[in-house]
Amino acid sequence: MKLVNSISRMSTLVKMLKKEGKSIGFVPTMGYLHEGHMSLVRAARKHADVVVMSIFVNPLQFAPAEDYDKYPRDLNRDEELAGTAGVDIIFCPAAKDMYPEGYTTYVDVEGLSSFLCGVSRPGHFKGVTTIVSKLFNIIRPDIAYFGQKDAQQVAIIKKMVKDLNMDIEIKSMPIVRERDGLAMSSRNVYLSEGQRSEALVLNQSLAKAAALVKAGERDPEKIIKTMAEMIAKKPSVKIGYISVVDSEKLTDLRAISKEALIAVAAFVGKTRLIDNIIVKA
Ligand code: PAJ
Repeated sequence: MKLVNSISRMSTLVKMLKKEGKSIGFVPTMGYLHEGHMSLVRAARKHADVVVMSIFVNPLQFAPAEDYDKYPRDLNRDEELAGTAGVDIIFCPAAKDMYPEGYTTYVDVEGLSSFLCGVSRPGHFKGVTTIVSKLFNIIRPDIAYFGQKDAQQVAIIKKMVKDLNMDIEIKSMPIVRERDGLAMSSRNVYLSEGQRSEALVLNQSLAKAAALVKAGERDPEKIIKTMAEMIAKKPSVKIGYISVVDSEKLTDLRAISKEALIAVAAFVGKTRLIDNIIVKA
């Protein structure tokens, strides 16, 4: 496995791979790898000749008051995990090389970026689409893999690729959970034992919502109310939003008629967690 810091070295490697006719599967990450990231690597390993993973904590997608400085980082551990999972190249550029002084170009997917997490994190998705575009331009993947854990992120990236005619297939992979149901996240390390156990209510409330839909409930308001009541019983969990939306357009549904994305965001102590489930009527 190669570890590449320099953008020009990465570009040279990509040129060589393209010349050899190799397909490139790409897994963008911010590191501090867990099984969720690994599931993306395994999917890429199945479909592509060469698997490239980026590890870059992207300053542009963090607001000033958010956890950019505190975000967990451990490149040695990541290298080991990535190597075992079958990554061929880790691309981990420096922030000053990705955004040199005088940097002024951004990619913004309007509409989709302003719903759900976009309400409390303005500018976040602009940061994501800008870095993902830059990474796509450097790595030139055939297929790129994203987790359904960040359902809004996947919807936005798919829209960006379509709107900007990027010749890249976007694959969305299922949410990987801990044994007790907590969605894996690099941010779970911030949780105390008590908070971690209360955080389980997020997945439990989504499971309850899915059960309600299965039993015939079609009214988003009733589903949201049930979820909110469950979550309210956990003192360390503060709801950011609970939404029942169209899984592509991300707009609120007035009734569940076909497929719906039920998404929740909450602060558990100071840690912001998200989770979601897709349900079918
Ligand atoms: P990061 O949070 O490191 O996540 C990298 C990828 O792993 C994303 O596609 C995310 O959806 C996926 N992922 C995270 N937890 C998962 C889980 N429990 N199950 C399945 N997949 C999971 O998302 C980002 O980084 C950044 O925004 C990035 C796209 C790299 C741009 O900076």
